Amino acid sequence: MIVKKGVVMIRTVVRFAALGLMAVSASSWSGEAELKRAEEIVGGRCFLCHGLNGESASAVFPRLAGQHADYIARQLSDFKSGKRSSDTMKPQAEDLTPAEMKALGEYFQSKVVGPRRARDQELLAVGRYVFTRGNEFSGLPACSTCHGAQGLGTPQLPRLAGQHPRYIEDQLKQFNKRERTNDNAVMHTIASKLSELETHAVAEYIATLD
Ligand code: HEC
Ligand code: HEC
Repeated sequence: MIVKKGVVMIRTVVRFAALGLMAVSASSWSGEAELKRAEEIVGGRCFLCHGLNGESASAVFPRLAGQHADYIARQLSDFKSGKRSSDTMKPQAEDLTPAEMKALGEYFQSKVVGPRRARDQELLAVGRYVFTRGNEFSGLPACSTCHGAQGLGTPQLPRLAGQHPRYIEDQLKQFNKRERTNDNAVMHTIASKLSELETHAVAEYIATLD
C-alpha cells in the first residue's frame, strides 16, 4: 500500500529528488561511480521511507543517517537472503548487488542528522541509567559496553544514537520474541531482561544521543 502510493508519488517528487541529490557533497570515499549509483537508488525509492539523507521523517522507518556502512550492507544482504525477515525490506533489497549494498552503506554513513529532544526528563534519567549502567539486579549489561558511551557503535555494531524511539522499542521486542531473525543471539538475551519501563526509557534516552 505504502509502496504503491510511493510509486505514484515518484513522478511528482522526482524533480525535488534531483535537487536534493545535487546537494550531496563530494565524499572523501573514492568510489565516485558507486556513489552515483547509490544516489540513483536512494532517489529512486529508498527516500520514500528513509528520506533522501536517511533522516526518516516518519518514526515508523529507521534512520539510516550516520549508520555504519558495513552494518547497512550486512542488513541489506540479510534482507535479500531472508536471514533478517521483513516483508517491507525484502523486495527493496532483492535486486541489489553486493557492490550496491556497500555503496548505499557509504552513502548513508556520510549523512548527519541531529538528535531528538527528550519529551520526559524523568523517563530520560531512567533511560540514561539503563544505557550506561545496566541493571545489576536483573543481570542486564550496560548498552554502552557494546554500542559505545554515546551509542555510536562500531563497524560491527550498529549505531543507536538519534534513532527513533519507536524503532528501537520495536526492534527490542522483535529480538525478545526472536522475530528479528538475524544475529539475534546477543540481543535476544539482553532484550529478554528488559522490563517495559526500561525499554521505553532506554529508547527515549538513545534518541537524544548525538
Ligand atoms: C516502503 C518503505 C521502505 C522503503 C522504500 C525502503 N525501506 Fe528500508 N526499511 C523499512 C522498514 C519498515 C524497515 C524496518 C524493518 C524491520 O523492522 O524489519 C527498514 C529497515 C532498513 C534497514 C535496516 C536498518 C537498521 O537499523 O537495522 C536498512 C539498512 C534499510 N532499510 C535500507 C533501505 C534501502 C537502502 C532502501 C532502498 C533500496 C530502503 N531501505 C527502502 C522501510 C523501507
Ligand atoms: C554484548 C554486546 C551488546 C550489548 C550489551 C547490547 N547490544 Fe544491542 N546489539 C548488539 C549487536 C551485536 C547488535 C547487532 C545485531 C545484528 O547485527 O543484527 C545489536 C543491535 C541492537 C539494536 C538494533 C539496531 C538497529 O539499527 O536495528 C538495538 C535497537 C539494540 N542493539 C539496542 C540495545 C540496547 C537498548 C542495549 C542495552 C539495554 C543493548 N543493545 C546492549 C550487541 C549488544
